[in-house]
Amino acid sequence: MSFVRDAFKMLGIDKPKSHAIFYKNGLKRFGSDFIDLMEIINSRNGGSFVDPYEKKNKSLELSIYVGSFFNYTKWESIFTWLEKENIDQPRKILDLGCECGITTCLLALMWPESEIIGIDACGPAIKCANNLSEYLNLKNIRFINCNLDKFSLSGSKFDLIFASFLTHEWLATNRVSPLINVDMDIKLENVKIKQTELIYVEKLATICNLLSTDGLFITIDRIPLIYGQYWYIKAAELAGLKFSIAKSYKIETKDGSESEKFPVNVFQRRKDDDRETHIDEVISLASFKNIPPLDLEDDIAEAFFRSFNKQEILFNSSIKYIDGSGVRYISLFRCGPILMRYDWTSLGYKHLLTFPLISLAEALNDCHTIIDQLDSIAEINSEITVAGLELLKSWGYSMNSVND
Ligand SMILES: C[S@@+](CC[C@H](N)C(=O)[O-])C[C@H]1O[C@@H](n2cnc3c(N)ncnc32)[C@H](O)[C@@H]1O
Repeated sequence: MSFVRDAFKMLGIDKPKSHAIFYKNGLKRFGSDFIDLMEIINSRNGGSFVDPYEKKNKSLELSIYVGSFFNYTKWESIFTWLEKENIDQPRKILDLGCECGITTCLLALMWPESEIIGIDACGPAIKCANNLSEYLNLKNIRFINCNLDKFSLSGSKFDLIFASFLTHEWLATNRVSPLINVDMDIKLENVKIKQTELIYVEKLATICNLLSTDGLFITIDRIPLIYGQYWYIKAAELAGLKFSIAKSYKIETKDGSESEKFPVNVFQRRKDDDRETHIDEVISLASFKNIPPLDLEDDIAEAFFRSFNKQEILFNSSIKYIDGSGVRYISLFRCGPILMRYDWTSLGYKHLLTFPLISLAEALNDCHTIIDQLDSIAEINSEITVAGLELLKSWGYSMNSVND
């Protein structure tokens, strides 16, 4: 069994049933507490600003029951991804906005040797979190009831700061967050952190100050448009963090017929030679490597290839068939946020394939796979160009992960 399924079982997190069964059983188990809470949740969905956390955490059972219904697939996707990431055991972990401690306990089960602190502004939630960690007999967790804006732990540095579905609340004024509140008329080139938004930069700077040198700040939230994503990266980088293209991800949750995607943004402390994340990178990131490629052959491939504004060559190869039957060229070009592989021969074969720019490492591996298969029948010259190497390095890739 996977870590996630085992851990969910220990925590009593069940796969959600249909809405009707959830409602019927909730009513049976929790009576008016359940009705009160659902009213608040429904009015929040309708746009009102009521805080649901006190009522939700009236008891640990109610909190887990309702939380599981709304968050099961989110927690499942996040922790499945985290498990696959194979992050070195962090010495110290901070879970921001931990609520009733589900995410904190999952982190503690994943890394039993780590020292973990969970923080939340809601008193009843912290009480539930303490009950949950006691029930699981987890000795490596401590919970603090505190508003993040007042939080300080002098001298403490964390190797992992985790914030799941906190930021849209924490980086908000009167519940309106720049992550969600978008103005479609603004061009990304004109996105600026406004004077009134500097308060959020200060908040993010406190995170930066709490991170150890190579520590990770992993933040998952609902950020529906590229505007919010770009704003967030810009604000975090102004606060001294650096967005990691290589480590970031996007989770997809499916509840019934509804599917939603949430970016998992990973930041580290900015190093001296780090540059700001570019708009093209953020646009290309929106796809999280999942856009279907444009896959063209023959003259239309050449027509597209010639009409793109090719800015940089990132990979080049020439493949000379030993039997003298011709030469094949495979190259990777960058065109803004799009990466293009053009593969053609002197005999008229033409093939064009597009990728999002951030898939450069995968696109290079694909090129190497094609080339490796031709090794015994051709003389091959290939290179990742300086521009390609610099791009990969700036994204935090080690060159071992991209074979040359
Ligand atoms: C949506 S819940 C997220 C719970 C949990 N992280 C998860 O993924 O299931 C957001 C939590 O953030 C907490 N929160 C919001 N603003 C906060 C602040 N300024 N300081 C501390 N906690 C805050 C709320 O009390 C709430 O428990």
